[in-house]
Amino acid sequence: MDQSHNRILVFAGSARAESYNKRLARLAASRVDNAGGRATLVDLRDFPIPLYDGDLEHEQGIPDHARRLRAMLAEHSGLVVVSPEYNGFITPLLKNTLDWLSRPDGDEEGLALFRNRVACVLSASPGGFGGMRSLALARQLLTNLGVTVLPDQLAVPRAAQAFTDNGDLADQGAGKRLDQICHRLVETLERLNPRAER
Ligand SMILES: Cc1cc2nc3c(=O)[nH]c(=O)nc-3n(C[C@H](O)[C@H](O)[C@H](O)COP(=O)(O)O)c2cc1C
Repeated sequence: MDQSHNRILVFAGSARAESYNKRLARLAASRVDNAGGRATLVDLRDFPIPLYDGDLEHEQGIPDHARRLRAMLAEHSGLVVVSPEYNGFITPLLKNTLDWLSRPDGDEEGLALFRNRVACVLSASPGGFGGMRSLALARQLLTNLGVTVLPDQLAVPRAAQAFTDNGDLADQGAGKRLDQICHRLVETLERLNPRAER
């Protein structure tokens, strides 16, 4: 299995087709690639997982789509989590997805999947604060799972007007900040996982 150090899994906590957070995730994936990383963009709509239920887990095991995501995460060292904000919180979709991924599967320990992973968190919202309150919670959840979350983060406010037709951020300062964050993530992974030939 390829566990290359510069592979970064990018996803948003929204399934909505026109999701602003998915737009930001798409942009972040391209910026990760520009920074020398290898991004894999995932749409959680393609991974419909039932709401966590201990009885369902006991009777049927880990749902297939959660297994697929686990296998993908196992092949990536970095994560970009783009978090919409619902009532000042992360979305049920993001929480549910991470809860299922944290469960043991047979002999595989759940949290082992998150250990030694490095993440950054981003958010977008039509509101004036850009979903900033969800960032602290996404950060806390990932930290609880054992992920190292970079201090750098970006909240994109007024998301309905924030993107240009070609998917960039209209605000050049925000675009630059996104570049810096993606660079920092790739650079951190490089430093933590020096290639054998170096
Ligand atoms: C139940 C619910 C609660 C929301 N609460 C907030 C909120 O606390 N802060 C905020 O900025 N936007 C809030 N919104 C608006 C979302 O930011 C908006 O629907 C956004 O488009 C969701 O992200 P998405 O575009 O990636 O799907 C809320 C939306 C819903 C459905």
